[in-house]
Amino acid sequence: MAQSRDGFQSRLGFVLAASGAAVGLGNIWGFPTQAANHGGGAFLLVYFIVIFLLALPALYTELYLGHKAQANPVKALRNAWQEQAPQVGAAAGYLGLAGAIVMLSFYSIVAGWMLAYALEPIALFLGFTEISTFLKTDSMARNFIFTPLMLLLTASIILKGVKSGIETWSRRLMPMLLVLLVGLIAYIATLDGASNGFAAYLVPDFSQILDPGLIIAAMGQAFFSLSLGVGCMMIYGSYLQPDANLPRLTASVALLDTGVAFLAGLLIIPAIYVAQHNGVQVFSDGKLVGEGQLIFAILPQLFNTMGEVGLLVGLLFFVLMSIASLTSTISSTEIPVAFLVENHQVERKQATFLVSLTVLTASSLIIFNFDWLFGLVIMVLTQYQLPLMGLFYFITVGWLWRRGNQLHKAASGVRYWFAQYIRFVCPILMTAVFANVAFG
Ligand code: ALA
Repeated sequence: MAQSRDGFQSRLGFVLAASGAAVGLGNIWGFPTQAANHGGGAFLLVYFIVIFLLALPALYTELYLGHKAQANPVKALRNAWQEQAPQVGAAAGYLGLAGAIVMLSFYSIVAGWMLAYALEPIALFLGFTEISTFLKTDSMARNFIFTPLMLLLTASIILKGVKSGIETWSRRLMPMLLVLLVGLIAYIATLDGASNGFAAYLVPDFSQILDPGLIIAAMGQAFFSLSLGVGCMMIYGSYLQPDANLPRLTASVALLDTGVAFLAGLLIIPAIYVAQHNGVQVFSDGKLVGEGQLIFAILPQLFNTMGEVGLLVGLLFFVLMSIASLTSTISSTEIPVAFLVENHQVERKQATFLVSLTVLTASSLIIFNFDWLFGLVIMVLTQYQLPLMGLFYFITVGWLWRRGNQLHKAASGVRYWFAQYIRFVCPILMTAVFANVAFG
């Protein structure tokens, strides 16, 4: 049965697909916004520490669970908990699955905005001013056009399967994303005001470093950025060949994801300062004006101040954001699709349709209750569910899962120490961060 399963054909294909899952709005929007609001370089420092101490082992653990099981998260976790309580493992798998649907439901809305904003400069260039206004103005109608469009794009890739869909498209989209990102950084760096942005980003404001809010923000950001806790990495790990070199692959994915987040900071934070230099109000009381509005207010205003070239820069920027979104939505969609195919023998086409419909329903709920539901869903998922699922995976691999778990059996060498790190240090560190927030 394992042979008939679709999977990644090459190491590079996997690294691009998994880093595509990881690199997304979280990197290009979330990371720079958090950095701008949490002491620039101080956030960077804490973020790197959190990535290295917690998110990297969590990424390894999640990939490992999928890789060993060669199955979707519900099956993988049920098997891992076989000797204790298979239903607890399966329940965690279902929770991850629900998390993936929830993640998709708000992510597809935002990804739809990116698509609309990418089309807006084209409409303006062609003289369709009414369409341009529609595309850049928040409305229910726009949400109900572009959210389904994003889901359709995602479904068209998922339908083709892992090798021909996910891997092929990740190989096309990820290099485009990197070229666009580096090109935009190079351009913004030449503008007046950018140097203040580089300083604000790279020089730490140490007065903020011990703020428990900063640590939990960095942890939530790191887990969201690496797409941990909902099963994205577990399902991608399960599509790796059984002899894959997991530690190397884990390091490559984490490096690419963190590298892109760092680069995004080099684009966005100088861009904020360029906007400020051009007369746009970007900060109030030391915080970004309407933190969530960075992408849809400050940057478009900046592009407007650039004249004709602003149209092209705006177009490229929102194409970059759309690509980053798409490579992430495909990974989250693959989790429930794989579950339906493997556990319920639903055809891939039907499964993709069912999952897209479910996500559209959940997205519609958010669209109708946007003011209170949107932020709440994001906060609960990123700051609580994802890290707590990470904690669950650490405990599963470190303590409960025995049969077939090489890490558990490791008796000496680096593997032994790494296993001890997963068993003791990671769960304690994570619990300490949560306790710090609850009681600090
Ligand atoms: N990991 C994805 C992101 O950062 C979800 O946007």
